[in-house]
Amino acid sequence: MPSQEKLDFAEPPSPAARAAELRAQLHHHAHRYYTLDEPEIPDAEYDRLFRELQAIEAEHPELRMPDSPTQRVGGAILKELVPVRHAVPMLSIRTETDTEATGAVAFDARVRRELKLSDTDPPVDYLAELKFDGLAMSLRYEQGVLVTAATRGDGETGEDVTHNVRTIGQIPLRLPEGVPEVLEVRGEVYMRRDQFEQLNERQREKIASGAKGEKTFVNPRNAAAGAVRQLDSKITRDRPLSFFAYSWGEVRGDAEPPATQYDWLMRLKAWGFPVAEQTTRCRGADELVAFHRRIGELRDTLPFDIDGVVYKVDSLAQQKQMGFVTREPRWAVAHKYPAQEQLTTVQAIDVQVGRTGKLTPVAKLAPVFVGGVTVTNATLHNEMEARRKDVRVGDTVIVRRAGDVIPEVVSVLIDKRVGDPPPFTMPAQCPVCGSDAVREEGEADHRCTGGLFCAAQRKEAILHFAHRRAVEIEGLGDKLVEQLVDSGLIKTLPDLYKLGFTALAGLDRMAEKSANNIVAALEKSKQTTLPRFLFGLGIRHVGEATAKELARHFGQLDRIMDASVEALSEVNDVGPVVAQSIHTFFEQPHNREVVEQLRACGLSWEEGEPAARAPQPLAGKTFVLTGTFPTLSRDQAKDLLEAAGAKVAGSVSKKTDYVVAGTEAGSKLEKAQTLGVAVIDEAAMLAMLGTEA
Ligand code: IVH
Repeated sequence: MPSQEKLDFAEPPSPAARAAELRAQLHHHAHRYYTLDEPEIPDAEYDRLFRELQAIEAEHPELRMPDSPTQRVGGAILKELVPVRHAVPMLSIRTETDTEATGAVAFDARVRRELKLSDTDPPVDYLAELKFDGLAMSLRYEQGVLVTAATRGDGETGEDVTHNVRTIGQIPLRLPEGVPEVLEVRGEVYMRRDQFEQLNERQREKIASGAKGEKTFVNPRNAAAGAVRQLDSKITRDRPLSFFAYSWGEVRGDAEPPATQYDWLMRLKAWGFPVAEQTTRCRGADELVAFHRRIGELRDTLPFDIDGVVYKVDSLAQQKQMGFVTREPRWAVAHKYPAQEQLTTVQAIDVQVGRTGKLTPVAKLAPVFVGGVTVTNATLHNEMEARRKDVRVGDTVIVRRAGDVIPEVVSVLIDKRVGDPPPFTMPAQCPVCGSDAVREEGEADHRCTGGLFCAAQRKEAILHFAHRRAVEIEGLGDKLVEQLVDSGLIKTLPDLYKLGFTALAGLDRMAEKSANNIVAALEKSKQTTLPRFLFGLGIRHVGEATAKELARHFGQLDRIMDASVEALSEVNDVGPVVAQSIHTFFEQPHNREVVEQLRACGLSWEEGEPAARAPQPLAGKTFVLTGTFPTLSRDQAKDLLEAAGAKVAGSVSKKTDYVVAGTEAGSKLEKAQTLGVAVIDEAAMLAMLGTEA
């Protein structure tokens, strides 16, 4: 009936129908995003759908289903993890001890023997997989909905970690129609290397800012295992995990059981599980050997850790024929690569200075073969990390090298320490240039303060000085600076202005015309402005805006160079950290010398008088802004008020003097009225500032 159809369109869907629709859409998009890495919609649109579903569920709690994407982070914090008995035990795999690629030949020979194949029989079909370095997980789906996620435990009994596994975006909470009524999917939960590095970086920041009970993680596997076993799934959510499927446990009501390992993985993939793209079907030993070699070469470029590859007899019928020895199937073997962690000793602890002045303690190691290369240096990150791990000269340590990440000292074997070597301390001076090395409050790293002078920072300092928004030396880019510094033509900034045409034209690949252009650009850059010059010096925390404020406030460079921390703090937008940084910079004799030499080379700008302190008619008054104003944006209003000495707060309290309300003012206006705080409009505010609209 056409009229009926029309009705269907006109009626808004019931909350239940809309919730179901949203769940389906969100499942689809989560799969595109997390598993396929091919989102179809922007993140903001996903968030919008997500919030709509959240809102429906908040109003109708009975519609909140366990497979709802909103349930990926549960609320409750568990007291302990509950044991789960696996319906089908989780097996382990035998390890091939021969680490050469040809180790696969022995496995193939054994398989052929056990399958009673003769030399004239065709090669055996295998599935070659990666051996992921994470932790095994069993995901139980009933009627297509994830009901339990359990760790391997001893293979018979694991732990229920469903609440945490739900936070893993790659793991489907619900499977498509037509899957077996009971299905256990098995695979590996792991942490990607980049996410592991980021997590540790966040942990180091937390430790540096004084957080108690925080630590860094030894490797992605430990980080993943720790995240999976949390009692509070909110912690797990902040430690991003991933998943690869490679096996299955109990399966009930399977309409079309596959005949091979490969077909199983393909259907798991079709149902939405991530399956490693490197998984390869191999015929006979030769192809297994080739696979081992190929993955070995690729290993460093993979985004996650593997500790080897796994070969499995592909045919399930042949697997069944071969059976098990104790807990290990005869039809599979793990073939390892060189370990990514090794023991060695620390011969010295050096401090290296990076391009931006960051000081990094580096352990000099007795050479050790880790993750396929010989390692002699490993980072200790910063002083706090070095001291927290308590690495000392002579110590026996575990080093880790995975992928193209810089090798790292993971931990010290304290029992093996001989004598009582002193703990590591960061030098007070930059080991390269002798300028003071400082660590700002709340920061993890020490930095050299000799930015302009320090050889380690030369290239960076020159590029910054030449920047379009600094003194602007057109044509002086990355490559040229590299050449100039490496050839020894330039040691410090003033050397730039001593470069003549001959020196420039003598450089590799430098045409006469380009050399002329650079000479002209250098000449042109000499006439500059104080803010550009100040910004160009590359003082930490002094961006363009701060440079302008400094110039406006002090008028003259010498006044800035001689200002006390207190005097610097009076400048708009200059807080104690920035003031200290400027002060320390100009305290370094080397930096002052560079400035003098630059002036001697002819760099000049117009100097002015120190700005009279702007009148501060609103000093001591606190304002709160709410709603939309007729002429000003909120930021503009805030700037005006602050320039007049007022404080602008985010919420209304008894201490608020005025609430400036525009249209569509919300709860802040109500609160002002309740507390009896004066409410004014934009025009009244401008009148107070003495700037009529
Ligand atoms: S299959 C029937 N495949 O290795 C064998 N395991 O010692 C069941 N692992 O605990 C496991 N990658 O955590 C299999 N492609 C892979 C694997 C893999 C890593 C781990 C897994 C298991 C251990 C077996």
